[in-house]
Amino acid sequence: MREGSHLIVLPFPGQGHITPMSQFCKRLASKGLKLTLVLVSDKPSPPYKTEHDSITVFPISNGFHEGEEPLQDLDDYMERVETSIKNTLPKLIEDMKLSGNPPRALVYDSTMPWLLDVAHTYGLSGAAFFTQPWLVTAIYYHVFKGSFSVPSTKYAHSTLASFPSFPMLNANDLPSFLCESSSYPNILRIVVDQLSNIDRVDIVLCNTFDKLEEKLLKWVQSLWPVLNIGPTVPSMYLDKRLSEDKNYGFSLFNAKVVECMEWLNSKQPNSVVYISFGSLVILKEDQMLELAAGLKQSGCFFLWVVRETETDKIPRNYVEEIGEKGLIVSWSPQLDVLAHKSIGCFLTHCGWNSMLEGLSLGVPMIGMPHWTDQPTNAKFMEDVWKVGVRVKAEDDGFVRREEIVRSVGEVMEGEKGKKIRKNAEKWKLLAQEAVSEGGSSDKSINEFVSMFY
Ligand code: UDX
Repeated sequence: MREGSHLIVLPFPGQGHITPMSQFCKRLASKGLKLTLVLVSDKPSPPYKTEHDSITVFPISNGFHEGEEPLQDLDDYMERVETSIKNTLPKLIEDMKLSGNPPRALVYDSTMPWLLDVAHTYGLSGAAFFTQPWLVTAIYYHVFKGSFSVPSTKYAHSTLASFPSFPMLNANDLPSFLCESSSYPNILRIVVDQLSNIDRVDIVLCNTFDKLEEKLLKWVQSLWPVLNIGPTVPSMYLDKRLSEDKNYGFSLFNAKVVECMEWLNSKQPNSVVYISFGSLVILKEDQMLELAAGLKQSGCFFLWVVRETETDKIPRNYVEEIGEKGLIVSWSPQLDVLAHKSIGCFLTHCGWNSMLEGLSLGVPMIGMPHWTDQPTNAKFMEDVWKVGVRVKAEDDGFVRREEIVRSVGEVMEGEKGKKIRKNAEKWKLLAQEAVSEGGSSDKSINEFVSMFY
């Protein structure tokens, strides 16, 4: 291989996109490539090296001035990010061309399809990186092609869609934008637009693995040059469930993290419910109340991530009432938590990264999807992998406390819980196998790397 061929990687600025794409960078670096990771940021700074000598991080502006509120208007946000990248990236590429190791390809987030033309204009190959499963992308593709129409109301159809090797999907299982298209027309346009130029993309990467979506994979591979490279969970977590050993290996070493891990260390194996809704989901206050009451009533130990912006929705005196039973933190080192032997199940919003993390670490799940791809991911989890259950919302959309108690009981105890645990073990091994040397994703990554000989 040409020593250290150079690639640029550009994720969409969001936790659920930056995490898998930066993990992918590390995998490529371990196989000898040199990477420039361009991060769109509200605080641009000079480029810096990571702990991996061959990865340089290049923060660029998101196009907003200090003090401006970026996320008020999504169209405005996307437009400013696009303008900022288009103003910065060409010069960056030109400078790199003079540096002696010109970049060969641009690995870009699939939600910014216009980057393909930027790559081609500057003589680079374009590799689109999809951070969601194929099933979700396939659904958006059918919408793009006009072969699947978005119903005007959520309750318009009972059974809506069927895909190879997948149970029938009803309205509740489809990506939310397809059922509530009027609520998020801009996001629907963005996710469907991902497919607008896919026929011209040089390489299509996806954070999934072959056995997860076997039959669908055949179909997408018949259309596009697809390589499944996931799960992008770092291999140190896949090797073992971390113990109470002090070498947690977490990335965010601070007092809160230590508190979190010490608390887990004091608990019995498989006794704790871990609850996280990722980086974006905002629960209504009434829903938080029901969830809080349900967790308390379940009688289980629980570690609950409530982001700082959400803490005022925690019921008054709740922390005192739960005492030793629960710990509430504003952020957790999720991989370290999921890998901890005290964790018995993961109550999750079903973001794709969280799903892959839970699956790769063999943790049974309770799905409480909120929006976007999450309902479809929850269907995967409950009906295809059979590694957990999805809570049932009532007609008003709320999940009541009794349902939380029931779901926790079902997964943590009883016969169904045992079956779920067994399936979780099975999928954990398959995920590990995919990324281990000679596994399907490892081979795909090697194939990708070999394109830059
Ligand atoms: C959303 C979509 O649902 C997801 O499918 C898409 O690809 C990205 O956008 P998001 O809400 O960000 O996802 O959740 P998720 O995909 O689960 O990603 C969250 C990431 O943050 C995970 O990697 C998780 O480990 C990390 N996290 C979250 C922490 O490390 N600590 C926390 O306390 C919470």
